[in-house]
Amino acid sequence: MPHTTQSGLPIETLYGPESTRGPGHAATLGQPGTHPFTRGVYPTMYTDRPWTMRQYAGFGTAEESNARYRTLIANGTTGLSVAFDLPTQMGYDSDAALARGEVGKVGVAIDSIEDMRVLFHSIPMGQVSTSMTINAPAAVLLLLYQLVAEEKGIAADQLTGTVQNDVLKEYIARGTYIYPPAASLRLATDIFRYCRTEIPRWNTISISGYHMAEAGASPVQEIAFTLANGIEYVRAAVAAGMDVDDFAPRLSFFFVARTTILEEVAKFRAARRIWARIMRDEFGARNPKSQMLRFHTQTAGVQLTAQQPELNLVRVTMQGLAAVLGGTQSLHTNSFDEAMALPTEKSARLALRTQQVLAHESDLTATVDPFAGSYAVERMTDELEAATLALMRRVEEMGGAAKAIEQGFQKSEIETVAYRVALDTDSGRRVVVGVNRYAQDEEEPYEPLRIDPSIEARQIERLAKLRAWRCTTRVRESLQDLKATALGTGNVLYPMKAALSAGATVGEVSDALREVWGTHTSADTRL
Ligand code: 3HC
Repeated sequence: MPHTTQSGLPIETLYGPESTRGPGHAATLGQPGTHPFTRGVYPTMYTDRPWTMRQYAGFGTAEESNARYRTLIANGTTGLSVAFDLPTQMGYDSDAALARGEVGKVGVAIDSIEDMRVLFHSIPMGQVSTSMTINAPAAVLLLLYQLVAEEKGIAADQLTGTVQNDVLKEYIARGTYIYPPAASLRLATDIFRYCRTEIPRWNTISISGYHMAEAGASPVQEIAFTLANGIEYVRAAVAAGMDVDDFAPRLSFFFVARTTILEEVAKFRAARRIWARIMRDEFGARNPKSQMLRFHTQTAGVQLTAQQPELNLVRVTMQGLAAVLGGTQSLHTNSFDEAMALPTEKSARLALRTQQVLAHESDLTATVDPFAGSYAVERMTDELEAATLALMRRVEEMGGAAKAIEQGFQKSEIETVAYRVALDTDSGRRVVVGVNRYAQDEEEPYEPLRIDPSIEARQIERLAKLRAWRCTTRVRESLQDLKATALGTGNVLYPMKAALSAGATVGEVSDALREVWGTHTSADTRL
């Protein structure tokens, strides 16, 4: 059993019971905006500026999504969050055989620079921060965003936003991975290095616990496996020769908010404290921004019910409250109808209005970390911290998150918890109002948002026009350069940007890397 961490630190120092008696212990809670940031990452938190209201949205072609973003901005949203369709997330063009039937369904179809131009038409890219939920092809979509901003005369150092860029959690939950782990970690750290030089205000990764939570992870599993993934990314960047303070300030996180308000507040507080100490004590981060766990929250989709859907308005409000009381930097509130279909314009507006009521009709923004000193929440924070550290220690003893993933550890641990929750729900021990208690005999009819079936044909037609217009030789040569760089050790984002600028598509760039790095399949994960 190894007694030191991968970085050579005694494992007791970071993960042992004594580790929580350090400066971060509840007895010495510290102030908001100071290490270990238990009470929040900024001294003033929402008293200066409310959290970012950032609604995840996107469907159909770039036109439909552009219209939704402009409506959200008109309704007061303060940050954008792009949902891509599965072909885009998997690095396939809309005319690929594997894309059939998925184009524009769970998000917007983006095949080329032309689509990105349409997606951000009349949107002030220099003012609004844009999150993009994209992982394996994160570099491609980031570069398309930068290229379109450059065409509008917006310098890259004015751009703010985030790419999710967290493929490790895709191996554990959700599955939108392409390349093997080593190549995925290289691509992730190439983005760290590229943004440090070219797009310095961009958040280079959103290390996510949300999807693991939606797959059934408990609060302890959610933060333990997420922080363990974060450690893996930091190690990869340090191993690639970067100084921790050169990239860590731009790491960010993404968690769920459940209706169990007190436990969720304690969860966020414990996560901040653990991350701050790991970044300082294991990686020697000196810049306080490197030790801050800044995060986005989305309300729990799995808690939404199709039965009596109006109840979801209450659930989302409670979940949003948990996120805000827990000190989130950015929040997405689900629409009440998302258990049935994509949100309608009305339900999406209602979800945003929920955040606006929380921010402007409550006193939540008047006090920083209002639960500080609360017997219940401080105790829960300590207990969650200790349980999380114990689970992180198990991952560390397996050689770290990537090695544990290859053994299927996180996936099987989550499935065990998910199974127990399902049994408790089926038995009624875990109450779901409207479903296993207080159910109604018949539900009122609901009219879902319908996706126009002609979207796929229209998108394929646009691709054909792009391929006819562009200079084939320039595209071919730039893809060759990309492959040559991928074979070597250079940063692939530079030749990738040239290829995209020449009109190469998301699928062509992703295929070039598939050719060089191969692909990861679930069969590669033992268990
Ligand atoms: N005092 C001082 N400065 C403050 C402040 C305060 N009280 N409040 C804010 N600021 C500053 C910040 O320092 C920052 O400045 P900087 O960029 O120069 O450092 C600026 O104001 C913006 O504040 P934040 O960075 O806190 O807020 P953002 O909203 O810009 O960023 C984030 C939040 C978490 C860091 C960022 O990574 C983010 O926006 N993440 C969003 C991720 C997301 O939307 N994911 C969606 C996933 S959906 C999905 O996965 C699929 C679905 O199926 C779930």
